[in-house]
Amino acid sequence: MDATRLLRELEAFKAERLEPIVGAGLTSLAEASGGEARTLLQTALANEIGVSELAAAWMPSTVEIDVKLAFARQAGDEAGHFQLVADRLTALGFDVGTFRMPAENPLFDYLRGLSTTVERIAAGLFTLESIAYAVNENFMTFCAQRGDAETVRIYAEYIQPDERAHQKLGQRLLEKYVDSPEQERLARETVSSTLPPPLVRRPPSGWGAPAFPGAELRLGGASPQRRGNMPGAMRAERRVRRSRVNCSRKMAAWPGASGR
Ligand SMILES: [Fe+2]
Ligand SMILES: [Fe+2]
Repeated sequence: MDATRLLRELEAFKAERLEPIVGAGLTSLAEASGGEARTLLQTALANEIGVSELAAAWMPSTVEIDVKLAFARQAGDEAGHFQLVADRLTALGFDVGTFRMPAENPLFDYLRGLSTTVERIAAGLFTLESIAYAVNENFMTFCAQRGDAETVRIYAEYIQPDERAHQKLGQRLLEKYVDSPEQERLARETVSSTLPPPLVRRPPSGWGAPAFPGAELRLGGASPQRRGNMPGAMRAERRVRRSRVNCSRKMAAWPGASGR
């Protein structure tokens, strides 16, 4: 068991899957109207409290004390992010008192069902935080283009450093707790399941409906080229993943993903 090799593999897989999302989001956000910043901030509000609730929900049933405390820290930090975004929305004239959590979120429904420590670390800290970071970078670019320097400052100075720290914490905990081939398999499967499926900017005919701004989502799996680049174990995990969750619905969770 080589945890360093596994982390390298998972990071590369994650980066490959997130790269087109960032590019697609930038394209779409560049076309968005100024008024949409507020809508995106409202979606960010839902995401921050969603991650906070998830980490808090995992705490009582997580035995390992350092992981339990990591979820506690994450829950607290995300609540702080909620407050920062709420304050910004208030400054933009939005009545935060009217905010209500979306009734259903497939991504968080899936994540709440994860029961092992390795799955929770792989999903909540290692992967979800990378998605959040990438989507936030998109949103910051959008705000900068609109001249909203204050929102950019809030994300750059407070939110993004925390998201990065959460992700690093996930790396360290995965390295510590993945200690068998079975744990390794679980980590791979969970990372793949939590990430959205591959996206392309110009889908060929037969590809699925749009699920991310500026991008198209292929519902039937990876292209032959992508399959060729994916490690064999990842291809096997993808088959498992497709039977477990519908990622096209899960991506509705993130600002810059469906907040518009
Ligand atoms: Fe956050
Ligand atoms: Fe975070």
